[in-house]
Amino acid sequence: MSTVFFAPSGRLRGTVAAPPDKSISHRAALIGAMCSEPVRIDNYLRAADTLSTLGALRAVGALVEEHADGHVVIRPAGLREAREPEDTIDVGNAGTLMRLLPGWLAAQDGRTFGLDGDSSIRRRPVDRVAVPLELMGARIDATDGRFPPFTVHGARLRAITYEMPVASAQVKSCVLLAGVGADGTTTVVEPVASRDHTERMLTRAGAAVVRGGLTVSVTCTDELDAESLRVPGDPSSAAFLVAAGVLVKRSRLVVRDVGVNWTRAGFFRILERMGAIVVGDLEEPSASVAVDEPVSDLDVTAGPLVGTVVEPEEVPLAIDELSLVALLGCYAEGETVVRGADELRLKESDRIAGVVEGLRGLGATIEATPDGFAVTGAGARGLRGGTIDAHGDHRMAMLGAVAGLASREGVEVVGMDAAAVSYPGFEADLAALGA
Ligand code: S3P
Repeated sequence: MSTVFFAPSGRLRGTVAAPPDKSISHRAALIGAMCSEPVRIDNYLRAADTLSTLGALRAVGALVEEHADGHVVIRPAGLREAREPEDTIDVGNAGTLMRLLPGWLAAQDGRTFGLDGDSSIRRRPVDRVAVPLELMGARIDATDGRFPPFTVHGARLRAITYEMPVASAQVKSCVLLAGVGADGTTTVVEPVASRDHTERMLTRAGAAVVRGGLTVSVTCTDELDAESLRVPGDPSSAAFLVAAGVLVKRSRLVVRDVGVNWTRAGFFRILERMGAIVVGDLEEPSASVAVDEPVSDLDVTAGPLVGTVVEPEEVPLAIDELSLVALLGCYAEGETVVRGADELRLKESDRIAGVVEGLRGLGATIEATPDGFAVTGAGARGLRGGTIDAHGDHRMAMLGAVAGLASREGVEVVGMDAAAVSYPGFEADLAALGA
């Protein structure tokens, strides 16, 4: 485990490309493996989580070619032809892999698949996907009925209509992936809109996906065919660079090739409310299903920040960036409150406890609430600095780094190596911008 000190930074300047999107990379590889013909994926994320996905797909019979120029070719296993693996599938630290892959595996009639991961994965619930998959006819045996390691017993699936009790793109995606291989039309109803990459990519691969507001349906098919896919830059990773640019005084940076799908762009909208100027082409919300993933360069500048309230319906649109909202809140005038975000307790670490303890240790005035947190901002004076523990969580590590650059005395991040889960080039990109 590495400890890295991030000193207060002079202004950040320059242009950097956002690293490839983690969520979309997982989906591209997985849907690629479900297709009938080889699929070329450009700009696939090479990070710990998405390499776990390639390993998992190899284990169930897909052939994966990783080319020197960075593109990946998936020679698929097929929609109903995943092979029973010799060993337990290792999902590493990847919650998205752990919750999406069972959707496909559940449709493998008569075959059994064991899944397990690291110590963080073993505290993340899988009953949220087990419940709908069992309604469709599969059987899932999980530890204590809820946790990994767990086993998926595939079956001939039947379509269901599933009203999701939690807003989770992972659960929605799992049910839709199972729905592609089930008999009939499967419908998922979300309590609040969440990222729709699966819907877009399945549509591109030829599945009949219909969306109207919070309801999305997919009809079973015999074949998927995606041919080629390109992964855009990750708005969740870009958010750390953008936040650094906003918080480090007199900075001016442009992040290129950022995915601006409206179901992912919530953080940038919140940032605008807090007083930043975001120049870019953010996608507008729409009720129907789009196919393409829009991208834009983002040029973000900020003067004084003001506190804001993030309401529950905004939470899924910025779920992985809410810790950054807390950090920005420390540098704002007034209060910043995040509500309806109890899901943060179930991420790679408990992100409510981690953000509150972590930022408080750097000098923040922040309280945990049952479903989020409340920060009393110190305005431009911001944070003193100190030490923060990433608790093995990539986004907590990067939060600590950005806090350090913006702080008065610097921040030591314990466990900085966790950033490699989603953004291995993070420190190099900060250095390129002058940090
Ligand atoms: C993800 C969905 C979100 C998010 C996670 C990635 C996805 O999780 O926090 O990092 O790729 O579908 P939930 O679906 O649990 O909210």
